Amino acid sequence: MKILGIETSCDETAASVVEDGVKILSDVVVSQIDIFAEYGGVIPEVAARSHLEAIMPVVNKALKDAGCTWEDIDAIAVTHAPGLLGSLLVGTLTARTLAILHNKPLYATHHLKSHVYSNWLQGAGVADVSQRRGVRSAAARGVAPAARGARPLGRELPKANGPAGRAPEREISDRTPAPMFPLIALVVSGGHTQILYMPAHNQFEIIGTTQDDAVGECFDKVAKILGLPYPGGPSIAKAAEAGNPQKYKLPHPNVKGLDFSFSGLKTAVLRAVQKELSLPISHPSHDLKNHLTPEQVADFAASFQKTAVDILTEKIATAIQAHPEVKSIVVAGGVSANQLLKSTLETYVKNQGLAFFCPDPKLSGDNGAMVAAAAYYEIKSGIKPTDPYTLNIYPRISIESH
Ligand code: KG4
Ligand code: ZN
Repeated sequence: MKILGIETSCDETAASVVEDGVKILSDVVVSQIDIFAEYGGVIPEVAARSHLEAIMPVVNKALKDAGCTWEDIDAIAVTHAPGLLGSLLVGTLTARTLAILHNKPLYATHHLKSHVYSNWLQGAGVADVSQRRGVRSAAARGVAPAARGARPLGRELPKANGPAGRAPEREISDRTPAPMFPLIALVVSGGHTQILYMPAHNQFEIIGTTQDDAVGECFDKVAKILGLPYPGGPSIAKAAEAGNPQKYKLPHPNVKGLDFSFSGLKTAVLRAVQKELSLPISHPSHDLKNHLTPEQVADFAASFQKTAVDILTEKIATAIQAHPEVKSIVVAGGVSANQLLKSTLETYVKNQGLAFFCPDPKLSGDNGAMVAAAAYYEIKSGIKPTDPYTLNIYPRISIESH
């Protein structure tokens, strides 16, 4: 079964064709990162307009790379919750129209569920993330849409290895077995930080959530204080390579149970920077970066990253204690690309005798393949398709009430 997955919940326009929920035939992602780097964050209206320009070229390229025509596609899947209202609208209206036009069943998925299902994809080696291009919005550059016709979009498949851009056959057997239930999923993205208990496919219980900022948001805000570019996660990880993670002692928030709080950690970094620079707390935070040496930036990045990773690992340890029956731990969402998080959690989880799953960094951020994978397991569970004439969007709905 071949499913076309469409993802536009935030600032990536993505589409992918996935076979049987695991095999990625194409994976196209157009990132708006270079637009928002200038502003230090996503501007919803600009994101929606950029999706509108990119969505059809992205969908067409996903079909072409997969060597598929519409006849080959068995179903369409799209993210309809949660996310930015305008961004979700572009993806869902596109998917609804295509489903009606081509008479395909339509599945509407929850974004966090899709992130979790990225762990079922056998995508390692399919695409090279270094080819991921942020295609600047034509509106922002004042370029007429027609002028962009020849622009290559997103990630290319290694054509030399297979016909019509298909992933080489060996990749389907590369991957370790799928996660086993019951499992605990740590979802760490720019908008969410949650621990989910999953007894079986399509069943989610939120057992921990953040009381304020998401951990990805915290990476982004700390990066801003340190003068590192948006998005903050990758730039903090890079700066941290040269830093001493023990240099600055940052507090762990005192939150009971499995919940998180990350806004205090961001403020703790701010105060530590002010103290290090002997500047008063009234000093404008946007100016602090102008006083920091590269060495201080690296040490703050490393100390912050280690503290964030330790907090997440401690919560997973508590979750495992509370649920000794779990067989696997899976990590998902943009922050799961963080190598320190991945290696620290992997060591801990494997020492507990549990299986550990973390998506390849190519699949940790937003992509269409995870949407298709999530829909595939909905179909396998007997969930019925949605009505393309009435499908709605839910910018804030939780995974439990979805
Ligand atoms: O899942 P995602 O691509 O979008 C949302 O659904 O929010 O996650 C984006 C978040 C951003 O906050 C970004 O800074 C963070 O993921 N991120 C990272 C890394 N790569 C991306 N955080 C830490 N380390 C990374 N290597
Ligand atoms: Zn996401």
